[in-house]
Amino acid sequence: MAGRINDEDVKAVRDAVPIDSVVSEYLQLRNAGGGNLKGLCPFHDEKSPSFHVSPSKGLYHCFGCQEGGDTLDFVMKVDHLSFSEAVERLAARAGITLRYEEGGYGRASQQGERTRLVEAHRIAARFYAEQLEGPEAQIGRRFLAERGFDQRAAEHFGIGYAPAGWDHLVRYLRGQGFTDKELTLSGLAQEARNGRPIDRFRGRLMWPIRDITGDVVGFGARKLREDDQGPKYLNTPETPIYHKSQVLYGIDLAKREIAKANRAVVVEGYTDVMACHLAGVTTAIATCGTAFGGEHVKILRRVLMDNSQSEVVFTFDGDAAGQKAALRAFEDDQKFAARTWIAITPGGMDPCDLRLSQGDEAVAKVVEGRTPLFDFAMRSIVDRHNLDTAEGRSAALEEAAPVVVQIKDPSIRRGYAVRLAGLLGIVDEEFVVRRVAQLARWARERGQAPARAPQSARVREAPAVRAPFVPRGPDLNLRSPAHRVERELLKLALQRPELVSPAFDAYGADEFTAPPYAVVRQAIEAAGGAEAGTADTGYLGRVRDAAPDDTVRSLITELAVEPLHSARSREVDEAYAGEQLVAVRLAAVRARITELEGTARRLEARQEYERSAGVRQQIWTLQQYGTALRERGAAAL
Ligand code: CTP
Ligand code: MN
Repeated sequence: MAGRINDEDVKAVRDAVPIDSVVSEYLQLRNAGGGNLKGLCPFHDEKSPSFHVSPSKGLYHCFGCQEGGDTLDFVMKVDHLSFSEAVERLAARAGITLRYEEGGYGRASQQGERTRLVEAHRIAARFYAEQLEGPEAQIGRRFLAERGFDQRAAEHFGIGYAPAGWDHLVRYLRGQGFTDKELTLSGLAQEARNGRPIDRFRGRLMWPIRDITGDVVGFGARKLREDDQGPKYLNTPETPIYHKSQVLYGIDLAKREIAKANRAVVVEGYTDVMACHLAGVTTAIATCGTAFGGEHVKILRRVLMDNSQSEVVFTFDGDAAGQKAALRAFEDDQKFAARTWIAITPGGMDPCDLRLSQGDEAVAKVVEGRTPLFDFAMRSIVDRHNLDTAEGRSAALEEAAPVVVQIKDPSIRRGYAVRLAGLLGIVDEEFVVRRVAQLARWARERGQAPARAPQSARVREAPAVRAPFVPRGPDLNLRSPAHRVERELLKLALQRPELVSPAFDAYGADEFTAPPYAVVRQAIEAAGGAEAGTADTGYLGRVRDAAPDDTVRSLITELAVEPLHSARSREVDEAYAGEQLVAVRLAAVRARITELEGTARRLEARQEYERSAGVRQQIWTLQQYGTALRERGAAAL
């Protein structure tokens, strides 16, 4: 337990660090008159700044949520620290050595948990960086060089190397006075089978991940060797100081530039952040092994002091861009007052590849050539239709309108409906506005929150699907027969790919009604499909690598090891696999028929009989297919 910190020292710490310098680590402050400053409150969501800071009084107060206090209160509240941890954090910053009431000077065992874990990470980062110089790290230095990063770049980002042995770091940190419990709690070590801690990161290139104030709180670790069975990137697990939904790689370096430029550039990986910064795009940041989500939005909004002038630019590589953009449009576009943009890198290259092949200017140029995200998402749908015909325009509208319906704010939704009319070349824009309003009303009446893409919906590789695919549907429910059979089929595709290939590879992700399963289906596709699984041993590893996040990755592992259900009663053979294929396809066919019935009825209500006849024809074809599947099984697939 932490000992009591000497009162005089607490006072000294409180006086030593100006409140505005602490607060502006977390949010942008601007002049509020009378010597005061203001910004967007970190403790509640707001659109205009009501969070006031008085440097002369050393106090802050939010007129929106009534939260207030002094520097220490702020640090405690914003980083969820205990009192002594907050004092320790500020003392370290001010260079003050604390005296603890019982016993000597700031002994390890007396410090708060967060302070200890941050300290362990600081030492670990230094340890890894030193290892990068050694002979064993040659492979890591080569990796960096191949991606255009010299020693200065590596130092700027604090890159290191984790040695390949079992417990180099563990032993080093023990020598620095850390307990085994602290080591496992920090995520730097994990328990081996015998219960003793071993290094979590072994034989990998290490990117220190810093929080917004610059403290190292975790690591991203890239695989370097073929015989490494782990995922391409291994990140720090959730710990008391590392929450992947709240960290943004590069934010410590980028935050001042972001505030100054009123723009943030979101890229996908550690190497992309580095490449951007080196190319002069110093506003670049990335999420760490997870999709860009609501918590990330909140952090960026505060740094940007989110207003109608600020911009968030998402970069995507060419091929998958349309899909990803549409996903983003579904997700949190509306949470930014900032305008959201998309920048497409050419030829499927990420910013790191682009800098390598075309130089720094090319990276900056891509960001400058950004387009509004919404327009891009709409266009990627609209472009699939022939707008020269009334049918084409109408079909494009039916596909694009549901995206607009996702926008919650009715006035923004209206504006976007008007833009959609423009893109479609529909002169009567009120027609589009009415259609969108109608769909929104129906969604409300059905009591459905507009379908939202789940966290796991980040599409890493683009399968060739008709529409930007957003997994949606009910949550995973193992008692639902549909979900059960989808699960069994995925297990087969992972465990016995030879039994389901090649039929399985023709199944779209949208045939899996449970969103997590749809994402697993995409990961399999990204790994070359079940077909590839019949050929080589690296298949499961590649599927896991293709998972958009750790949750999906662990689901994949689970599916790869869970016993196949029939194992007890009968053989797992081609016939059994065929039954699962048929069951999943039949469910998808039924769902599609229901959807088309709805469309047909809506068309008939509007007396558009010609179009409804076309839809009825599709329904009939699907019904025939369903019957064939039921009668002839896998032969009809
Ligand atoms: N990522 C992850 N886990 C994986 C794969 C990727 O967390 N198994 C995240 C990492 O944050 C990584 C980013 O996704 O930085 C981009 O991944 P990717 O483009 O595959 O990696 P690169 O670093 O670009 O590697 P390479 O240049 O060798 O393709
Ligand atoms: Mn990449």
